[in-house]
Amino acid sequence: EIRRPVPPDIRARKGGTPLVVLTAYTTPVARLVDPHCDIVLVGDSVGMVLHGLPSTLHVTMEMMVLHGQAVARGLSRAMMVIDMPFGSYEESPDQAFRNAARLMSETGAAAVKLEGGEHMAGTIAFLTRRGIPVMGHVGLTPQAVNTLGGYRVQGRGEDADRIRRDAAAVVEAGAFAVVLEKVPDALAREITGAVAVPTIGIGASADCDGQVLVVDDMLGLFTAFRPKFVKRYAELGQEADRAIAAYSAEVRARTFPAPEHVFGEEPVRK
Ligand code: KIV
Ligand code: NA
Repeated sequence: EIRRPVPPDIRARKGGTPLVVLTAYTTPVARLVDPHCDIVLVGDSVGMVLHGLPSTLHVTMEMMVLHGQAVARGLSRAMMVIDMPFGSYEESPDQAFRNAARLMSETGAAAVKLEGGEHMAGTIAFLTRRGIPVMGHVGLTPQAVNTLGGYRVQGRGEDADRIRRDAAAVVEAGAFAVVLEKVPDALAREITGAVAVPTIGIGASADCDGQVLVVDDMLGLFTAFRPKFVKRYAELGQEADRAIAAYSAEVRARTFPAPEHVFGEEPVRK
């Protein structure tokens, strides 16, 4: 019998078979990714990917709760982690605890993820000591796009030490894993060797302890922009365009619906 992983199981995977992580925001996609993933992340990327928002700054607690509940209904095997949205945790450890507890109790997530390094360490320690497992997220932290000045690679050259310190701080504070986003390959490898918990890379390194991608990116469904770190494993956007164009043409030609799609007076079959 395979027990569903919990944060200590994930932590124990340090240095082992790489952890497979994808995002999901809906029940049907959660069902698709569940058999293949160790962790399914309800990312605040939902704001950009499903709601057409210009950044993750506009994502609310209510959106995360609704999408978290939808994802939970589609998972039976993978561990669910949910992002804390911008503005729901930065003010104080108390605020973070209140909102993290709400996300976990209302969605059933096993853990929360929050962005930030040294400056969030106190909050991460506060949460983990009170029963809330935390996944850290350092390097490019999209909720800080306005202070970072864009979505650039973080930790190049002189800046590397800032990322080293951020990763060390969140791990020291008790995070069970840490996402490294958009940092140089060699730096991600070095941090992976230096910290005691799994690193989950996105635009980082094949030597991280796991990888994460936004599911709509890797399926070719989200095409508004395409970061270098996205590998498209399918082109479902193109496939959907083809299908929708075919439907449109058939409706205009009155070839859809065909006889097999309409009903007679007597029901001959279901
Ligand atoms: O919101 C998200 O999808 C994320 C992952 C890309 C790590 O935070
Ligand atoms: Na996120």
